[in-house]
Order: sequence, then structure tokens, then C-alpha cells
Amino acid sequence: MDAGTIGVAVIGAGMAGRSHAAGYRQVNTVFGAGLPPVRLAAIADANLELAEDAARRYGYEKALPSWEAVAQDPTIDAVSIVVGNDLHRRIAEALVAAGKHVLCEKPLAGSIEDARAMVELERTADVVTSVGYTFRRSPAITAIRDHVRRGELGDLSLFSGRYWCDYATDPNGPLSWRFKGGPGSGALGDIGAHVIDAAEYIAGPVVAVSGATLSTQITKRPLPLGAVVGHNAAPVSGEVGAVENEDTASFTARFASGLVGTFSVSRTAFGLPNGLAFDVLGLGGRAAFDQHRPAEYLFDDAQPEARTRGARQIIAGPQLPYFKGGYPMEAPGVGGGNAEMFTYQARAFLDQVAGVADPLPACATFADALHTMEIIQAVVRSADAAGASVDIP
Ligand SMILES: NC(=O)c1ccc[n+]([C@@H]2O[C@H](COP(=O)([O-])OP(=O)(O)OC[C@H]3O[C@@H](n4cnc5c(N)ncnc54)[C@H](O)[C@@H]3O)[C@@H](O)[C@H]2O)c1
Repeated sequence: MDAGTIGVAVIGAGMAGRSHAAGYRQVNTVFGAGLPPVRLAAIADANLELAEDAARRYGYEKALPSWEAVAQDPTIDAVSIVVGNDLHRRIAEALVAAGKHVLCEKPLAGSIEDARAMVELERTADVVTSVGYTFRRSPAITAIRDHVRRGELGDLSLFSGRYWCDYATDPNGPLSWRFKGGPGSGALGDIGAHVIDAAEYIAGPVVAVSGATLSTQITKRPLPLGAVVGHNAAPVSGEVGAVENEDTASFTARFASGLVGTFSVSRTAFGLPNGLAFDVLGLGGRAAFDQHRPAEYLFDDAQPEARTRGARQIIAGPQLPYFKGGYPMEAPGVGGGNAEMFTYQARAFLDQVAGVADPLPACATFADALHTMEIIQAVVRSADAAGASVDIP
């Protein structure tokens, strides 16, 4: 680190890359002092125009045309990898070899073999190697986890999680990288990874899955004529290509505790733009969260009087994790959602990089994210075997 500052860069100026760029910009405005000054060094994208636009908007010093240019820049210390999953391994290997700390987007890699190689890399790396599971930074989700840990729901009886999005409902949506790769790399890898991680964050490790089904509603899509950003529409040609992975999947999971979970994920869930939601049910309480209302959750615990029974709407405020110090206006009910989660994640990553005294909870590791991919692989195997139970290694 040059003169006590951390030089950061983001590789990928697309949908999520901008969230990382915005997150680093905010890290020194939240949770007080402690972190060294952050230098917003570079945003890189193969689409230089996009990188230049993001660098200008988010106040980064320069735009670079390739990830290799980031790896070669000695003034950059910490880097987010925010490009298509197939590129994660190659970029992570080059960055770690160049001595840079890495925050890689989920899913960890485009294949389980690549993910395993990244965990091998992590074992010997002397830099931070971490993965962006942003929902771990949700004040509401963390509060629910705390209720569960304190036993306030009693013994858990069911976790029911879903991530329903509608970004793939339009058959004229372009065949972007999201629709390529084998089974498991579609809705399961793209959004399922988040709800699986959130479930384990709350209820502990999953040890087996069963009853899986995968389906693809739109099997062919038009080829894009140019760059596609995130889920955006783009000009398309008359030619079509095959969708290689699932639009929708469902499965049952068994946790190490014996708890049963049911999961469904879909990118063709009409009218639900970003619907990560779950219910946690126990013998003495329940909690429910929906990312479409990210700054609140429902909580119900055993009330002594039957007439006061029922769920309470808990509105996010300084009583929840991350809230105090995490907002410019620290008053209850001011809202908060996706952008804040990326800020807290970036702060946690840089806390680790700088070794600050009182860090935010550490980010997930490559090994944690390999475990998610192993669950997804087991879901695919269960679907191939008519729903048979498959253990997680
Ligand atoms: N945590 C979250 O909430 C979240 C949300 C969306 C996406 N993601 C993850 O972020 C990653 C990127 O997703 P996205 O939606 O931002 O994708 P995107 O398609 O919008 O952006 C990817 C960018 O990578 C660039 N790119 C492609 N090849 C490149 C190369 N060789 N060198 C440099 N840049 C290159 C593209 O030009 C594009 O701008 C994925 O791993 C995805 O799973 C995470």
C-alpha cells in the first residue's frame, strides 16, 4: 500500500461492477475511522466506453481496457472481479500472482473444476481472497440470523427460500453470457447462489439435497448485435442461439441440524424484478424477509397473551445490525437496500485488506463459495436422478 492509502480497482463496468464502484466510493463515510484513505484507481472493462463512463460517474482516476492492465498496475492493491463467471478463475489467478487482494463476485467460477482450483489458490495465497455475498450485509437478514442464533424462534422446523426474478421473461431478451454454460449455471448459479448462502448464513450448513427439478421456459434467444449490460434489452440479430441452462429450479435441502429447507429459483417469474424472499419457521416463532421491502422484516414470537399474537413489522433503524454508522441519516425508517449492502461489503473487504482493529464481519471465502457450488452441483445431480437425495461433499 502506497503512502498508507489503498488503491482499489473494479474489473467489469456492467450491472454489478457499478455497484462495487459505488461501494468503494462510500467505504470511508461509514462506520467511523479506522480504514486508511482509499484511492479510486481504475475501472476496467473490455468495453472501454463503458469503463470510461463508469470511471467518470464514480470518480475513478482512469478507465482501463482490460483486466490484464489492472493486474500489471503496481499502484493497485485490492480488486473486485465483476465479469461473467467463466472469467473469474483466470483473473483471480493473475491478480493473486501480482499480490493483489481479491473480492470476486458469486458464483465463484464458471465450473466446479475452476472453483476447486481457486480454493487451491486461496490455500497458499498471502492476500485476501473473498467472495461477494451481498445479502450477508442486509441489516434485516442479519437481524433474523441473530434471532435464530439466540433461539428466539425455538427449534427451527422449516426454512423456505426463493429467489424469483423476471429478467428472462422476455423471449426477445438477448442471449448474453448468463444463458450459456451447463445445467446449474442458469438461475441456480446466478440467483440461487444468493438464497442458498443466505439460508446457510441463517440456519447453518446444508448437507444433502433432494427432489430437484430444473426447467427452461425459453429455449432459444436472439443473438445480441453488440454489448449487453446486465439484464438490459439490447439490439439483436435475426439469428437465435440455444439457451444452455435452467430458467427455473426447485429442490429440498437437509441442514446439518436436521432442519428441512425448500427452495425455488426462477428468472422467468413475471412481475418480480428481484424477489429474494424467505420464511424461517420455528416451534416458538417465525421471521419473514422479502428483498422488495429490504428495510423491514416480519417477526413473530410467542406472546404471553393470545390476543396479542401475530407478526410484527420490524422497520430497520439503529436497533438493527449495520444501521448505526452505516447511513448518513441514522434515523429509523429511512430505508436502505442494495446500494448499502455493496458499501458494507466493500468496507468489510477493505477492513480485511488493511487489518483494521475492529473490522466488520469478514467476507465469505473462496472455500465458502465452492461449497455453494457443490450444493448447486448436487441439485443438478438430484434432478438427473429423478429427484434422488444427493449428499454434499
Ligand atoms: N452480488 C450481486 O448482487 C450481483 C448482481 C449481479 C451480478 N453479479 C455477478 O457479477 C458478475 C458480473 O455480472 P453483471 O451482471 O455485472 O454482468 P454484465 O454483463 O452486466 O457486465 C460484465 C462486464 O464484463 C465486461 N467484460 C467481458 N469480458 C471482459 C474481459 N475479458 N475483460 C474485462 N471486461 C470484460 C463486459 O464488457 C461487461 O461490461 C457475475 O459474476 C454475476 O454473477 C452479482
